Amino acid sequence: MQTSSATQPNTFAEDVRRGLSSEPKFLSSKYFYDDEGSRLFQKIMKLPEYYLTESEFEIFSTQTKQIYEAFGASGAEFDLIELGAGDGAKTSVLVEYFLKQKAAFTYVPIDISEEALHFLTEKFTVQFPNLSIQTERGDYFRALKTFKSKSDRRKIILFLGSNIGNFGRQQAQDFFASLRAAMNDVDRLFVGFDLQKDPRVILRAYDDASGVTAEFNLNLLTRINRELGADFNLSDFSHYASYHPIEGAARSFLISRKVQTVSIKTLNESFEFAAWEPIFMEISQKYNPAMIDDLARTSGFQIAENFFDGKNFYADSLWKPA
Ligand code: AVI
Repeated sequence: MQTSSATQPNTFAEDVRRGLSSEPKFLSSKYFYDDEGSRLFQKIMKLPEYYLTESEFEIFSTQTKQIYEAFGASGAEFDLIELGAGDGAKTSVLVEYFLKQKAAFTYVPIDISEEALHFLTEKFTVQFPNLSIQTERGDYFRALKTFKSKSDRRKIILFLGSNIGNFGRQQAQDFFASLRAAMNDVDRLFVGFDLQKDPRVILRAYDDASGVTAEFNLNLLTRINRELGADFNLSDFSHYASYHPIEGAARSFLISRKVQTVSIKTLNESFEFAAWEPIFMEISQKYNPAMIDDLARTSGFQIAENFFDGKNFYADSLWKPA
């Protein structure tokens, strides 16, 4: 996930203005990840309802050898580039195995958050003293470009954790097409997709019994209050999650519980809310194998191999340039 500590304040303010002036209202989930938002997301990943983390972890830990072989990791020296590395928990399984096999690689976590990169480097340096690490800070494309000018090794790019689910269809295609443009024929892209499954299982993951996901969504209002001088009263909004099984889309909303006006000082503007008016907060798209194939093809790739967990809840899909 891209965290947003380096976000330009004006961009944030302008995005909030645009979202709250739209019909229906929306706020971008990319702004969820301030320090508190990142902590809440760590908490979500440990919830019993949030199966995604465990499913992907299972793939990494039970199919490590197959992944190693599919990456062609025993061959020429390569860069293992991770976009939005987070705490690196899943990647550490691969790194450990790759090191044991004496694969020649440099691990390159890319993140917009200095703090995330610092934490990860500290952790990996202790855990893997022999690992060569090179961090790149910045948005994915700028960082990839900078990095590309420093290294001509083969690239294996990881985009894990179902982060692609938070993109709309066109946005996902454009994102992968831009990655494709930065890749050579020998490079590979490994993407984590949450799969369509029992709608009740999905809905529970975004509407957990302990209310952490609700807090996670409401925290964006707290952030707007703090950073933009707004006066959102959190108890006047409630979290609502839905899952649409035809589209395969989980969506979350904050619902205004009454008629109210919210002022935002930085914007010098007020926004009216009707009773029960929703703010659309986030999409978490769930895929099926045909959708993954279509997305790969339309963005210039073909699937080399798919890895599934035992319940078929989740897939890590290895793509090669078409
Ligand atoms: C970061 N992303 C993949 C999470 C998801 O599942 O869409 C964010 C999240 N939102 C609510 N719970 C988790």
